[in-house]
Amino acid sequence: MRTALVVPAAGRGDRLGASRPKALVPLAGEPLLVHALRRATASDVVDVVVVVAPLGACDEVRSLLSPVVADVLVVTGGAERQDSVRAGLRALPEDVDVVLVHDAARCLTPPDVFTSVVAAVRAGAAGVVPVVPVSDTVKRVADRTVLETLDRSELVAVQTPQGFAADVLRAVHEAAVPGAAATDDAGMLEALGHTVRTVPGDERAFKVTRPLDLLLAQALLSPEAP
Ligand code: CTP
Ligand code: MG
Repeated sequence: MRTALVVPAAGRGDRLGASRPKALVPLAGEPLLVHALRRATASDVVDVVVVVAPLGACDEVRSLLSPVVADVLVVTGGAERQDSVRAGLRALPEDVDVVLVHDAARCLTPPDVFTSVVAAVRAGAAGVVPVVPVSDTVKRVADRTVLETLDRSELVAVQTPQGFAADVLRAVHEAAVPGAAATDDAGMLEALGHTVRTVPGDERAFKVTRPLDLLLAQALLSPEAP
């Protein structure tokens, strides 16, 4: 029984607007992907690592990661995140029974989050997501007109790593329409009626999406950070 980590890192990073794919953009001297994997492997709950790399970057990713992860499988990603995750799942060894899917872009996620997600899957959940409270008021809007103000006490923001029973996640991804734009693996389970549990996430597991997020990540890594 082994736990695998699949890291989708094949996105272009259009919203960040850097000259490189986002996972390879440097933060305090090292690519986001390296930061992400250092923290993931420090959790000691990961036995197998699969990184899904941008087209043409597999060799670069392998050499970047060789000092960080003893043994890593690197495969090429697809057009959408869902395609990349599926490529990663197809590379997994058969004896893996729990899979974590973790965005390279959530590069400062602390090791504890990996530990608690795996514990919740091993306690019997088909799917587990780390969540944090939503701080803004959220409204549904159409045609620039508010339709509804949602009850914030019921809302959470969802992070990664998301954890799954491996057989369930494999089946859900193989059944999904290729090229569909699912941004969240747990959502694919929910759509098929599987129960998804939550565990507390961490503010530091925010996703580097826009330039401001990179500034925040840099600030958190500076010696003066709180
Ligand atoms: N990802 C991936 N393959 C894709 C798209 C995304 O592996 N075809 C990965 C990204 O590398 C990232 C994670 O999925 O680690 C979350 O996606 P997102 O933050 O949207 O990253 P990008 O798609 O790279 O960014 P953007 O949407 O701004 O282009
Ligand atoms: Mg994207």
